[in-house]
Amino acid sequence: MFRFSKMTDELRSSDIRNLMSLAINPDIISFSGGMPGNDLFPLKEVDAIYNNLSESKKQAAFQYGPTPGYPPLLESLKEFLRKKGLPVDENQLIITTGSLQAINILAKVFVDPGDEVITENPCFIGTISVLKSYGANINGLAIDNEGIGIDLLKGALNNPVKPKFLYLTPYFHNPAGIVYSESRKQAVIDILKGKEIPLIEDDAYGDLYFYNEDIPRVKPFKAINPQGVNVCYTGSFSKILGPGLRLGWMLVPEEVYVQAELCKQAFDACSPTFTQVIADEFIRNGAIYSYISRLRIEYKKQAMAMVKALKENLPDYVQWTEPRGGFYIWLKLPEGADSSEIFKESIKKGAIFVTGKTFDPAGKRNNFIRLSYSSTPIEKIQKGIPIVTDAIRKICG
Ligand SMILES: Cc1ncc(COP(=O)(O)O)c(C=O)c1O
Repeated sequence: MFRFSKMTDELRSSDIRNLMSLAINPDIISFSGGMPGNDLFPLKEVDAIYNNLSESKKQAAFQYGPTPGYPPLLESLKEFLRKKGLPVDENQLIITTGSLQAINILAKVFVDPGDEVITENPCFIGTISVLKSYGANINGLAIDNEGIGIDLLKGALNNPVKPKFLYLTPYFHNPAGIVYSESRKQAVIDILKGKEIPLIEDDAYGDLYFYNEDIPRVKPFKAINPQGVNVCYTGSFSKILGPGLRLGWMLVPEEVYVQAELCKQAFDACSPTFTQVIADEFIRNGAIYSYISRLRIEYKKQAMAMVKALKENLPDYVQWTEPRGGFYIWLKLPEGADSSEIFKESIKKGAIFVTGKTFDPAGKRNNFIRLSYSSTPIEKIQKGIPIVTDAIRKICG
């Protein structure tokens, strides 16, 4: 009999992780994984990068590196982030093992068991798991098409219990797909100003916008650099190079950096040097910019194929918005509908998605479905969406 810690005893495996094993079955059409398309990875570019590395760089790639990151990558990544208007010189950058580790470190830095943290509801499942693992009380606030509910946020900040931080995913939200409007971002800034509640800004998908007119909308809070608001910014190579590299980053104020670096020493000492060397060259030779442009075009095509299939097949009572970037479409079913029942019906006919309650910090609200178009070829989207919509009709009428 093992005596596990209270923290891990309370963790539950997410539906997503369990579903991932089904997604490997080639006969099942999967809209469940929030991952890049295999056919899109920059294999040739990375082959060329590795083959052209000097012997000393190859040796460095196999070696341990400094905890905050491989120094050449810290430099090239700063250039990449500077182009987004991020204040890289007034803050500190740490390379992390995926941006999930950046979120994990920030949670460790700020949260004691029983502390309150504000998130959106729905919320990225990785963050929910991290926060629960530190014993946080998650106050998930509803969002609309423009972002987090402002009155809800005001209310939550007026509570006698002061939350440790606010966590937002403002650009092509996972799972809701939405992008914050500029006015909503300003309203969030106005509320946070002077409150000493840091904002953790998770920008995993901001580069993947489909419309140039949205460039102002994906300008990070951190780049707006609002006076009186501390922003801890996280980003990732996962969606703009490959999640297998396991590389992300955080750009944070000096005081946070000191704590975060100490935590990272205990987690893994350093992120993989091997992939940091590759990522560094990928930025330095400019391939990252042309690759991201290509991704925007390809993901838009896949998104539009899904939009078309949904328009043709979804019953009127399902609410959703057309994606403007990122990987996801979020379907709202009538109150009381149970997406787990729809899932059971849909998998029998060969298509899967992720159920809504996965992204509810309380694990309850289940009248939603997350569809991901990012790793599903267009023919499969056309074939799979009618399976999902038939299952919705069968269960919801
Ligand atoms: C919103 C969001 N943040 C962070 C991550 C973590 O990504 P990674 O750890 O691969 O950088 C993901 C991954 O799906 C995500 O959707």
